[in-house]
Parts: sequence; C-alpha cells; structure tokens
Amino acid sequence: MLKRLEALKTKALAELEGIQDEEELKTWKVMYLGRSTELGEIMTEMRSLSSEERPQVGRRANEVKQAMQAAFEERRAEIHERALTRSLQEKRIDVTLPGRAVPAGRLHPITRTMREIYRVFGEMGFQVYRSRDVELDEINFQALNIPPHHPARDMQDTFYIDDGRGLESDAVLLRTHTSPGQIRAMREITTAYPDDPPAVRIILPGMCYRYEQISARSEIQFTQVEGLAVGKNIRFSDLKGTLNDFARRMFGQQVRTRFRADHFPFTEPSAEMDVECFLCGGEGCNVCKRTGWLEILGCGMVHPVVLRNGGYDPEIYSGFAFGMGPERIAMMRHRIDDIRNFWANDMRFLEQF
Ligand code: PHE
Repeated sequence: MLKRLEALKTKALAELEGIQDEEELKTWKVMYLGRSTELGEIMTEMRSLSSEERPQVGRRANEVKQAMQAAFEERRAEIHERALTRSLQEKRIDVTLPGRAVPAGRLHPITRTMREIYRVFGEMGFQVYRSRDVELDEINFQALNIPPHHPARDMQDTFYIDDGRGLESDAVLLRTHTSPGQIRAMREITTAYPDDPPAVRIILPGMCYRYEQISARSEIQFTQVEGLAVGKNIRFSDLKGTLNDFARRMFGQQVRTRFRADHFPFTEPSAEMDVECFLCGGEGCNVCKRTGWLEILGCGMVHPVVLRNGGYDPEIYSGFAFGMGPERIAMMRHRIDDIRNFWANDMRFLEQF
C-alpha cells in the first residue's frame, strides 16, 4: 500500500508538471484531489490493515495528499501568473501614439451673432426681454397699428394656428416679427407701475415665422433682434446715437452709417440704417452690390398709437424702436449666399464656424 501511495504521488506530480492551462488543471484536481480518487480508495482500504500498519500508512497517505495539494496550489499560481503576463503583453498600450480627437461642439453661427448683439446692447444698458413665439393677431398686428387689410400685412404673410381664421383680433398665429414683444413689455411695465411707469431699455430677440416661398433670400423661420427704448424726452437723435454706437461696437470703430427714410406702421418717422460695407470698406463689392453700403436694420420713433397701446401716455412719453435680422448680418459677415444654410442642420456648413 505504501508503494501504491508512492506511485500515485509520482504519477500525479509528473502529470501536474505537464499541465499548461486552467482547464487541464481543473481536470487534474478532480482526478487526484476530488471525491472518488485513488487516494480515497486507498484510505478506504486502509481500514482492513492491522493496527500496527494503519498509523504508518495513514500518516504517509496524509503526507501524499498534502504534497499533492501543495504542488497543485503552486502550479495554479504559476499558470495564473503566466496568463496574466501574456494578457498584459497582448494588450500593451503604445502611450506614444497620438490620442483620438474628442469631437467638440460649437455654437450655431446665429447664436454667436445674437450673443454679440446682446453684448453690445448690454454694454449700453439694454436688458434682454423674451416674448412669446405664439401670438395673437391683436398683438402681432393690430396693437402695432396694422389693422386688418392693411397693406403691410402682405409683406408679412402669416402662419395662423387655427385653420381658416385670421384677421380677427383673437386669431392665434406665429409671430411674424419681434415687434409684438414691444407691446407685451410695455404693458407689463405700465400694469405694474400705472402711475409713473419707469423708462424701458430692452432688446427682444427671438424666432419669427413667415408663410413664404423658401428661397436663397427668404426662409419661413428666422431670428430677429428688436430694440425698444421708452421714456421722457427720448428723441430721434437718441435713436441715431444709440444705433451709430451699436454699429461701431459691432462692426468696428471706423464704420460709417447712414439713415434713409422708410415706412413702418408702428414707427413715425421711420428709417432704415445702412452701414458702410465692412467687406470692401465702401469700395463696392458683390455683397454690397457695388453700392458700398449694407442695409442693417429698420427703426423709427415709436408711433403714438403704439405707445398708447402699451399703456404709455404719448403726451408724456416717447421712444424709439428698431429691428434687425441676425441671419442677414451673419450672411454678410461670412459671405454666405443662401439663408437656407442656417436652419438646414447640415454639419458640413455648421462645422465651419
Ligand atoms: N418689425 C420690423 C420688421 O420685421 C422691423 C422694425 C422693428 C422696424 C422696429 C422698425 C422698428 O421688418
């Protein structure tokens, strides 16, 4: 029996030497250290030995078992170590390789233009007032001195929300310009301070909508930035001074401006402001159509009817208003010849900014 133990030990350890992976190792363990093994068999047979032989064989059997267990643990550690080294080698990282570029987001060119406009007017003490995109006919048109059937409505073809309606004062529409925000802002202030409403100096940015044939020059949706100043003793010279200052801060200290008479139902008198073409410096190029001037915004003194509709007494108060299109400004600046680029969400266009 002792010989059998020795033979078992030799065989088991020899086999263990040859084992290369964890799978084989598992099989070996079942075979030599598991439940029904040769060692187990010997242990059972030991019971039939004489009481002199039994302790001796028993001790030896235990030693063999411990030797096999120890050898097993050692082999397992070796195999594990080898596997680890191999996987580290296989997955080795070359830290000298250039990294992958992280895609960076960027602001939309119109958002950037708008923010520049906010910055300039912010420096001049104007606050941002946000009005709603969905308006009433009454506020978008009638309160701005554009009654039903007024020819100015033709210039601003309208998306009415409830089909078949329109022209009635409670018809719901998408605002065709940011000017209705003038009424909302003035009413908010004159409601809060009915006795002596404070002066207003705000810009009103936002999306506008017009039911138009889409083309390179006109989109059905576009942004505007409106401006409104109301107070006592506000004159046309204040309008000119403010807008000249805006033009210089926005387009450069040297830039020249000019005002041309125009017409809007909600301002009187009304004007259009041109800035000297900042692409050719006034020499004449295809952006300014060889005139040397770029039309930037519409403006005027707030019409007395509009002041009254906002809750201000036009005998005491006066004001000026203006409206500009950030798309137009961005188009001129970046020589973009098609307004449809802005809201088409084509990455090839957007990634250039
Ligand atoms: N609302 C006018 C437009 O959309 C622009 C404007 C605003 C003109 C304020 C004068 C005063 O064309």
